[in-house]
Amino acid sequence: MRLAVIGATGQFGRAMVEAARSSGWDVLPLGHDAIEVADATSVALALADPYDVVVNATVWHGPAQEDPVMALRVNALGAKVVAEHAARHGATCVTVSTDYVFDGDATRPYDESAVPSPRSVYGISKATGEALVRATTPDHLIVRVASLFDIGGSRAKGGTSFVGTMLAQARAGRPLRVVADQFHSPSYAPDAAATTMDLLRLGARGIVHVTNAGWCSWFEMAVAIVEEAGLTADLTPTRLADLPAGGPPRPRYSVLGHGGLRRLGLASPRPWRDAVRDYLARETGAGSPPPPRAS
Ligand SMILES: NC(=O)c1ccc[n+]([C@@H]2O[C@H](COP(=O)([O-])OP(=O)(O)OC[C@H]3O[C@@H](n4cnc5c(N)ncnc54)[C@H](OP(=O)(O)O)[C@@H]3O)[C@@H](O)[C@H]2O)c1
Repeated sequence: MRLAVIGATGQFGRAMVEAARSSGWDVLPLGHDAIEVADATSVALALADPYDVVVNATVWHGPAQEDPVMALRVNALGAKVVAEHAARHGATCVTVSTDYVFDGDATRPYDESAVPSPRSVYGISKATGEALVRATTPDHLIVRVASLFDIGGSRAKGGTSFVGTMLAQARAGRPLRVVADQFHSPSYAPDAAATTMDLLRLGARGIVHVTNAGWCSWFEMAVAIVEEAGLTADLTPTRLADLPAGGPPRPRYSVLGHGGLRRLGLASPRPWRDAVRDYLARETGAGSPPPPRAS
């Protein structure tokens, strides 16, 4: 099988390249220097050879404030351009999306069938990207992740992730104030990519949530990170309302349910805390990771 990964230098893209290669697939990694997703000519040139699967793991995510022009250009138009190219060449289009497509007013995990109701420019651009992909080709797989983390972090966030930031701050002995009233399902990029490979092998189509099992507040996650790393830290819970303004408005409760995986007969990826442990083991080069599946 031949698979192209657009956004291959990013957090999800790197993990996807690794997961596909370790499954023996022929992989073409494409960084931003090789392709511009919102430009159909650039996409056609970079994907001139035929591919069975094209993974779009790009994102535009404003660092401080939301920019509708850039967000819609990359996250919505880019998603459509890639889907059109894949459809024209008989390839499956995989698009990576986010929990920010939901408003966060729920009190139970969002099923894949829940209607998106984004509140931020970022969420609106990603939900529009999803809708454009769905309208463009039936041969699509939209995988939603949330609070993505891996070693090296997200390019759009300056090479950081929540796990990396908490570790750096705790190791530097700095006090940490962390939000305790926002709940989410963390996603470890290697597990999300491995699950995406499982979905592709099964021939799954449509929207599937590929977050790790379980959910937590940011504060609970910070406590777990510090504990798993064997550190001590001065951790104080704070409220979402007390955060300084900036960045997309965050959904208060954006836990993503795993009905999609269950309906396909797939287990959830391992619990998020086990994934944090694997991150730490890989960071220190200690041992091999535990099996990536929860039973
Ligand atoms: N990070 C999170 O916490 C999070 C949470 C939920 C969902 N997601 C979703 O997960 C996906 C991947 O996120 P990530 O954290 O892996 O992002 P990332 O680390 O910022 O990687 C994005 C990749 O896309 C490339 N790229 C950006 N704009 C491009 C464009 N116009 N044309 C071509 N390539 C472009 C980037 O290259 P350059 O850096 O060189 O521009 C980079 O390789 C996205 O769909 C995002 O919405 C992420």
